Amino acid sequence: MFIPSLLAYWQAILYAATCCVAVEANSTLLAGGTIIAFNEGENALQVIRDGSLLVTGDRIAGIYESGKTPSDIPEHTVVNVTNKIITPGFIDTHRHGWQTSMKTLASNTTLWEYFGRFSEFASVGVFSAEDVYLSQLASVYEAVNAGVTTVLDHAHHTWSNETSNAGLRASIDSGARVFWAYAFHNVTNFTVPEQIANFRDIAQKSTFKDTPTSLGIAYDYFGSDPEEQVKDIVDLAMELNVSVVTTHTLQGPFGSKNTASKGLAILLTIPVSNSPIHLEQLGLLASSIPIVFSHASFLTYQELQLLRKTNQYISITPESEMHYGHTHPHSHLAMDQAALGVDTHFTFSADILTQARIWLQKVRYLIFTGPLELWRVPSNNPMSVNQAFLLATRNGGLALHRPDLGVITEGAKADLLVWDGTSPSMLGWNDPVAAVILHASVGDIEHVLVDGKFVKKDGKLTNTDYPAIRDRFLESAKRIQGVFLERARPIPEPGEHFGGEDVGGELMEVMLVDAVRGDGSGYGTEFLDGSKP
Ligand SMILES: *[C@@H]1O[C@H](CO)[C@@H](O)[C@H](O)[C@H]1NC(C)=O
Ligand SMILES: *[C@@H]1O[C@H](CO)[C@@H](O)[C@H](O)[C@H]1NC(C)=O
Ligand SMILES: *[C@@H]1O[C@H](CO)[C@@H](O)[C@H](O)[C@H]1NC(C)=O
Ligand SMILES: *[C@@H]1O[C@H](CO)[C@@H](O)[C@H](O)[C@H]1NC(C)=O
Ligand SMILES: *[C@@H]1O[C@H](CO)[C@@H](O)[C@H](O)[C@H]1NC(C)=O
Ligand SMILES: *[C@@H]1O[C@H](CO)[C@@H](O)[C@H](O)[C@H]1NC(C)=O
Ligand SMILES: *[C@@H]1O[C@H](CO)[C@@H](O)[C@H](O)[C@H]1NC(C)=O
Ligand SMILES: [Zn+2]
Repeated sequence: MFIPSLLAYWQAILYAATCCVAVEANSTLLAGGTIIAFNEGENALQVIRDGSLLVTGDRIAGIYESGKTPSDIPEHTVVNVTNKIITPGFIDTHRHGWQTSMKTLASNTTLWEYFGRFSEFASVGVFSAEDVYLSQLASVYEAVNAGVTTVLDHAHHTWSNETSNAGLRASIDSGARVFWAYAFHNVTNFTVPEQIANFRDIAQKSTFKDTPTSLGIAYDYFGSDPEEQVKDIVDLAMELNVSVVTTHTLQGPFGSKNTASKGLAILLTIPVSNSPIHLEQLGLLASSIPIVFSHASFLTYQELQLLRKTNQYISITPESEMHYGHTHPHSHLAMDQAALGVDTHFTFSADILTQARIWLQKVRYLIFTGPLELWRVPSNNPMSVNQAFLLATRNGGLALHRPDLGVITEGAKADLLVWDGTSPSMLGWNDPVAAVILHASVGDIEHVLVDGKFVKKDGKLTNTDYPAIRDRFLESAKRIQGVFLERARPIPEPGEHFGGEDVGGELMEVMLVDAVRGDGSGYGTEFLDGSKP
């Protein structure tokens, strides 16, 4: 297997960064397609048929209706997009990129099980810096391939200087727009003060400068860590004016404060609170820094009003919230302050298109149960494809306080997708928004641009190193999976509570459903190669 040396690797990157600048035209005209633009005056999507879109440098320089493309555009490349649909890139506001290596190991887990087996605390010492690099890079490539051009990465692979730096480097190398949010957490062998020194070093070196990647902070212990430590993190965020602060928020039966808990003989610290009220008290909500609350499943009405007042957002991760069991009882009433996210992509769909589609139908289901409970019949539909589309694109930009992301308007960042409108799944569309949200698959995405550069072209990632990266990733993932497969599944103790007795609700075993006729033994097995019997 070919493993390029680090030097050869950096040389290749330097070459890629310098070789072609002089010969490439600055501008690209995507000509003759259907554009799903955003009309700022009307605050709504606007469809332009047979239109053209001019990309100059990293920005959208012009959007032209049929027959109105100016004839005097300076030197530019034309890409014929007849029969294609142009949309903004999707925005994933919650992901943990380092976890790719564990793919398919958690297909029937709950959040309680996840903490004991796969979380940042359970993974300390398992991943080398190289493992983190490859797993993170594979994640961002998976996202980019699926049309996700911006990722808010809650990077809790910060177990040492080396693993932290590796995840950042992978984010930069991916070419995607990564809001890389360094997680501060109480992990073995790497104290929070050491993490702060590492973070300052990263900020000072600014290796991400002039790339689409930027530096944020992830922190899950606003309500529980020692006060001085919380203050240190808040001060750091303010001092460095980071691009984002993000936190996991659950509450409800998942608890209202953090604590240490025993499980699998690993000492866990479960993030369960991080209410907007805590962050308000710390002065964070009213700062100019965007704050993203992941899940916020049990947000109260008052907390939502606080987010509206301070214009901060929640990240709804529809599939993860259903998979792990925290759900999202009221999130459909918070969509004006919400964007979409994926979360632990090693466990389920890693693309925002799927999240948007699942969420749209979930909201419809939720609202339809109202009349059905009264034996009445719904006569209208509560949520539109436009709303799902906006959640997946523009709202992500708004959550990051970046109105230039997730929209096609003049001057916005040229983070764009070109869809093959004649694929077997899309053929026959009339409304392009419905075509994308309800009919397309990520395989229909032909081109992906970030900052005006093609990162996927003609259905393939443009990085010619991808096959070599894939091989290295597979080697690494095989070793990592071996470690996790050795671990026994956790079994709850009788009367055990989530996060401890004074924190969360008591665990409860749910019924199993059955897709096989017979005696109820149809749950089946997970087909994991190499697991202990
Ligand atoms: C690229 O764009 C810059 C300004 O946007 C302009 O000065 C330069 O001439 C352009 N180069 C080419 C090759 O078009
Ligand atoms: C663009 O593509 C369409 C469909 O393939 C084709 O009919 C048309 O001739 C092309 N236009 C140009 C200018 O090449
Ligand atoms: C922590 O460091 C000690 C001493 O170097 C080492 O033996 C141990 O394996 C480390 N623990 C983890 C989880 O990495
Ligand atoms: C950090 O975790 C250790 C055990 O791993 C625990 O003893 C300590 O109290 C924790 N510190 C904080 C600030 O939570
Ligand atoms: C980690 O990086 C910080 C900041 O550069 C440095 O002060 C510290 O010595 C490093 N720690 C180790 C174990 O290399
Ligand atoms: C922080 O950075 C943002 C984005 O660059 C900028 O708009 C804002 O004014 C800065 N805030 C402070 C307090 O420097
Ligand atoms: C998930 O699947 C595994 C393997 O079949 C099984 O042992 C386990 O009981 C299942 N988990 C639950 C919560 O049923
Ligand atoms: Zn998460």
